[in-house]
Amino acid sequence: MKLLGVNKMLFGGDYNPEQWPEEVWDEDMKLFEEAHVDVVTLDVSSWAALQPSDDVYNFEKLDRIMKMVTDHGLKVVMATPTAAEPAWMAKKYPETLKTEAGGTRRHFGGRQNMCPNSPILRKFYAAMAGKLAQRYKDYDNLVAWHVSNEYCGYCYCDTCTKKFREWLKVRYKSLDAVNKAWNTSFWGHTYYDFDEIVLPDLLSEEFHFGGEEWQVKSNFQGMSIDYRRFMSESFLECFDIEKAAIKKYMPDTPVTTNFMGGFEQFDYKEWAKHVDFVAWDNYPKFGSPESDTSFWHDLMRGIGGGESFSLIEQTPGVSNWHPYCALKRPGVMRLWSYQAVAHGADTVMFFQMRRSIGACEKSHSALIDHAGTDETRVFREMKELGAELVKLGDATLGAVAKAKAAIVFDFENWWATELSAGPSVDLNYLDEIHTWYKGFSDLHIPVDIIGTADDMSQYKVVLAPMLYMSEEGFASKLEAFVKAGGNFVTSYFSGIADRNDRIYLGGYPAPWRDILGIWVEESDALVPGSSNSFVYEGKRHECSIVCDLMHLEGAKALAVYESDFYKGMPVVTGNKSGDGEAYYVGTRSDRKFYVDFLGEICAKNGITKLADAPDCVEVTERSNEKGSFVFALNNSDEEQKVVLPYAVRDLLSDKTHDSTVEITIGAKDVLIGKKI
Ligand code: GLA
Ligand code: ZN
Repeated sequence: MKLLGVNKMLFGGDYNPEQWPEEVWDEDMKLFEEAHVDVVTLDVSSWAALQPSDDVYNFEKLDRIMKMVTDHGLKVVMATPTAAEPAWMAKKYPETLKTEAGGTRRHFGGRQNMCPNSPILRKFYAAMAGKLAQRYKDYDNLVAWHVSNEYCGYCYCDTCTKKFREWLKVRYKSLDAVNKAWNTSFWGHTYYDFDEIVLPDLLSEEFHFGGEEWQVKSNFQGMSIDYRRFMSESFLECFDIEKAAIKKYMPDTPVTTNFMGGFEQFDYKEWAKHVDFVAWDNYPKFGSPESDTSFWHDLMRGIGGGESFSLIEQTPGVSNWHPYCALKRPGVMRLWSYQAVAHGADTVMFFQMRRSIGACEKSHSALIDHAGTDETRVFREMKELGAELVKLGDATLGAVAKAKAAIVFDFENWWATELSAGPSVDLNYLDEIHTWYKGFSDLHIPVDIIGTADDMSQYKVVLAPMLYMSEEGFASKLEAFVKAGGNFVTSYFSGIADRNDRIYLGGYPAPWRDILGIWVEESDALVPGSSNSFVYEGKRHECSIVCDLMHLEGAKALAVYESDFYKGMPVVTGNKSGDGEAYYVGTRSDRKFYVDFLGEICAKNGITKLADAPDCVEVTERSNEKGSFVFALNNSDEEQKVVLPYAVRDLLSDKTHDSTVEITIGAKDVLIGKKI
């Protein structure tokens, strides 16, 4: 990512001076300077203040804020305030409000409470973005635009219904094609007119599985997936409208919006083609594995084509919206900031700069807490990090990671696997992906996250765990990859359906049968309390979730089930083809299995680990024209030892470490070593 006039990792974040009396602003400026803050994201929540009615705009206060932050040498990421519609607008144009899946039109309130297809709103979006850009275009310190805020939430209103029908006409040309794609002859749901099509909501084809609100399933997955594609595109159009309005006045200033990492509703891979750089908000749950967060960082880097990205929000200390708002322990804010940098971030930004005095985020931490001073733990930790980022300067800016292994992650596949009932309620795409990712992480082997359409030729190993849905051409791509020497690994519930969630006939995974040299006849869900196991390379491993019952058709069994009526049937297979090999793992196994299995494939293919280090130390590498940088992050509460394959200079301590020596990294500490 390239931001004009920026020669270090930007440090700062969401700043809402308009929510405070002006006397406080001077104090903010002093404290920002003390903490080495050099960027503020302005204007995220001020639509009502900037536009009191249809044609009246009032930028006078924002002018003063811009002048003040500019006078204090701060860079600005200018947000457009369009995430929260003003109350007058909702009252005057109630059709702009979102309709829920249960058919209820929402009232004014909250954020992202708007219909993405409302023509009135789209007009207002363009007007606001354009006016802001026109007004502030001459500020050299305005380094990027941040459109709206965390787009989310589908709409099921009449406008969206009509647009969906139009969208279908464009996509499928004929109603016959729609009927075929959705397999509507099932249950006699054949359509004879586009106007018969209603959105797949909770009053039509979708339902809460087992009464659980978090589990939305569909009677017609093809339809529900199309609706999700349509919604993702509808919101993306809103982004594009604002982006175009900005570019009219500031063609060279990058425009983005803040993604949410593990957020399911939109296809961020598609969105990433529209933003000038990827930016995301990282709020891990307390206690969630560090490798889950690393995965999201790698995904954000991956959707941006491997380029560096922006960590545009994280909390300095505590979030207000988790069930248990545990504090970030001392050192963790710094550690997680560097974790982002280790995976490709070029900015370290936060929500928020000053903690609000009222409303739902009054309990959300900030650089400046309710105490209002520099005497808090959070302020001190932020200030120390701010100073370190000054010291690091531009060293790592734009650095990329060079991985020889990749994991395929597919948003549509995420939707598809969630929308179908069976074979097990424990089947979970993210869990499966995280499990494999963790294997690489424990091995200290870097991975890229790619999509099915991406080039695979630069990788020696490509994994596609639980890739239930894929396009037809993917099978031939896999074949070419393996024949040319690549190693492909997939798991149960893969290669089963096309992009409309129609099953590929002829024995699962039909299109991948040749390349895998197996076919799967049945899948047995392991009910709680039941188990199975297998021995791989002399070690016993557990099975969980499902056990695929498969037959060999050229592949070699690398492990077989140890019990039940399918005892002796293969569970792990390998099939040599051309210069490569394709592997299938027909169950979910234990952590040790993934480390052993992936470790062996990587070793056979000359993929080496980045360091000798315990699991709790995460290791990554990034390189740019200035050199290669190794990051070693000690997630544990004890000191750990690491041996690197090359000598480095620690950019934070300036110490030099030889390649043969054990380097000690303190609890929650980090080493950023430049290769020498
Ligand atoms: C999101 C939003 C912010 C703020 C934070 C609180 O990331 O973008 O405006 O609400 O959550 O954690
Ligand atoms: Zn709508």
